[in-house]
Amino acid sequence: MNLESIKKFVEFLFSKFFLKNPLKKVVDEIIMLYMTEEINKNLENKNSTNKPPVVVILGHVDHGKSSLLCAIKDFKIIEKESGGITQHIGAYEVEHRDKKITFIDTPGHEAFSAMRHRGAKVADIAVLVVDVVEGVKKQTKEAIETAKKAQLPIIVALTKIDRKMEAQPEKVKKELSENGILIETFGGKVPMVETSAKTSQGIEDLLETILLIAEMEDLKTNLFEPAQGIIIESLLDPKKGILTTLILEKGILKENQVLGTASVLGKVKQLNNFQGKKIKQAFPSQPVQVLGFIEVPKIGERFSVFPNFEIAKKEIKKEKQSRSQVFLITEDKKVLNIILKADVLGSLEAIEEILKNFPQEEVILRILKSEIGAIGISDIQLANNANAKIFGFRIKLEKNTKFYAEQKKIFPKNFEIIYELIEEVKKAMERLLTPEIRRIDLGKLKISVLFKKKQDNQIIGGKVLEGEIFRDTLAEVLREEEIIGQGKIKNLQQEKKDIASATKGKEVGMLFIGKVEIKEGDILHIFKEAKEKKFL
Ligand code: GTP
Ligand code: MG
Repeated sequence: MNLESIKKFVEFLFSKFFLKNPLKKVVDEIIMLYMTEEINKNLENKNSTNKPPVVVILGHVDHGKSSLLCAIKDFKIIEKESGGITQHIGAYEVEHRDKKITFIDTPGHEAFSAMRHRGAKVADIAVLVVDVVEGVKKQTKEAIETAKKAQLPIIVALTKIDRKMEAQPEKVKKELSENGILIETFGGKVPMVETSAKTSQGIEDLLETILLIAEMEDLKTNLFEPAQGIIIESLLDPKKGILTTLILEKGILKENQVLGTASVLGKVKQLNNFQGKKIKQAFPSQPVQVLGFIEVPKIGERFSVFPNFEIAKKEIKKEKQSRSQVFLITEDKKVLNIILKADVLGSLEAIEEILKNFPQEEVILRILKSEIGAIGISDIQLANNANAKIFGFRIKLEKNTKFYAEQKKIFPKNFEIIYELIEEVKKAMERLLTPEIRRIDLGKLKISVLFKKKQDNQIIGGKVLEGEIFRDTLAEVLREEEIIGQGKIKNLQQEKKDIASATKGKEVGMLFIGKVEIKEGDILHIFKEAKEKKFL
């Protein structure tokens, strides 16, 4: 009989026999005693207790990670996602055969590789989702590497198996073995389960396999040490404040406890389970949402519980928040100043990570400010003073801020998909690139007559040797195969009539403007220049 059922039984007795509160207190005491007893048993057991496995779902974009998770837990999350891409790390808890399993869905989009690496750090087991039609792709390989680096046992979920016509299981198995994943039927040790989120085929099998691996891994934790774990998500809720999702590694997290990461402190004001229901305490492996951090902690940061703020402050050296970088800007470099705002720290970090890797040889990208939360008046002021552009990710622009921004001619752009934001920043940088000048060779002309010369203006005649020549172009003058000067071709005439162009074999007259004195027998290489937009 577990605690929950005892409690339920007691509550039933109260309702049945109309027992009053004082007696309930006594029963509560008994339950507490029972709990202490359990705890003491655990203490004797070298302080260690089994913990549910934390499973990370890895794999290439669109290979069906979220769908598989949905199939595992009937939890409708896909509809809410923009562009079908999981934007935030999500953690969910399921129960199978009375055993708990925590799942983390790491987004497959490239933008989240930073998050994904951290996702794997909290996990005990990796489920590698591979589309049976598509096979091993770039991010599958990345995921294999991530899981191996974190020394996680891997289970392959060969998914979309319902697509019978296109499925190529044997090909995929071969690709996996080529990438260091030797599955059981290929003489290796990695278990593989064929799954489908559509038909739910293999879901039960997958859960069984996870529990089996968890048992083999003998995952232990200690409930009696101060609570400790990892931040997997933080967001700023406009109404509630800073909401942080974390996963405990050890200890029990309770209301009112003081907790801190390397960068911020907090006090647990409220604990919610993954479904947003209020809970009193959280246990290892359980994803839990905490309300009470003073500032937004960074994703992937480790947190611990402390007896009080003084001790917490002493033990945690506050990380200096040095965001603004100083660049030495030389004259040939242009700068694009930007302000980034996002709803969630994970997205902000992912965006910054990608932007940092943009080539900056010609245009420097300077992030003046990178914050979570709505765009405010101060952002508009900063953008106005520093000639910066504002890029928002899933944030709102309040009416009065919008009004103020319009007055200042600042037009913040908001995006729902990271990729689109990145593209827009890229375009803004590209607009600052000096266009490339490309020479387009048109034709060659041999000079046969010289008509007139007045200062730099020379009227000359010749025969087109190659290509097609045009008026209002440029010409390079060659004498005995050496370039001796350059000029412009103005008028072009044939039999005293103005023409726009002349092809090979034609005899033409023209006005050449240039310092070089042209002689009979010189060759003109005629060309034009095109300004071409450069790309990053
Ligand atoms: P990201 O979060 O963007 O990386 O994608 P994901 O890996 O979570 O993939 P998601 O679950 O969003 O599925 C991608 C597409 O594959 C969707 O159109 C799904 O409907 C489809 N899909 C997923 N699982 C299955 C499956 O088992 N069978 C079939 N036929 N289609 C599936
Ligand atoms: Mg997804």
